[in-house]
Amino acid sequence: MKPYEILLNENKLWAANKVSADPHFFKKLSELQTPEFLWIGCSDSRVPANEITGTQPGEIFVHRNIANLVINTDVNVLSVLDYAVNHLKVKHIIVCGHYGCGGIKAAITKHDFKPVLNMWLRNIKDVHRIHRKELDSIEVEEKKTNRLVELNVQEQIFNLAKTSIIQRAWRNENRPDLHGWVYGLKDGIIHPVCEMKAGTHIDELYEYDDL
Ligand code: CO
Repeated sequence: MKPYEILLNENKLWAANKVSADPHFFKKLSELQTPEFLWIGCSDSRVPANEITGTQPGEIFVHRNIANLVINTDVNVLSVLDYAVNHLKVKHIIVCGHYGCGGIKAAITKHDFKPVLNMWLRNIKDVHRIHRKELDSIEVEEKKTNRLVELNVQEQIFNLAKTSIIQRAWRNENRPDLHGWVYGLKDGIIHPVCEMKAGTHIDELYEYDDL
């Protein structure tokens, strides 16, 4: 059996198990999705959103990219954000990074990863520059990387708050709250690192006054 055929077989088993536990499982899901959460996480195969949070299909709307970035010109993440906020009406947005993130490690090096990876990683180097003083004071490389993982999550929370999508939802509906988390690959535990309640004021340079 080819490796991908194993996936298809496993899928049939999974679907059968779901139906035996709840005969209407797929019928209910196919009619409606009302997730309360948008998850913006890393593409890393070791950080599956549903599995590590014990949630089922239908409970979390998911976007993943390398190093869980929220980039102002990324039509993909902004489309997901727009749909989650304005159509699904999510109450919480979680940006979840993880310790030992390969994207973060790569961005700390001076290696040329060639376009387009250089373009993507540049956003992490910018986070590094903003927090250079703190990061330069950390001598142990692993600790420095892990702190950058945390600071990167924090900056992505700010990036969400800078969008008119979030600011409009905050003004009109007082949601969603933003949560910055970091998952530990070594112990499977998620550590909350920052939180921004709906309506929080950010640097006024980024606040729209005519939404
Ligand atoms: Co990663």
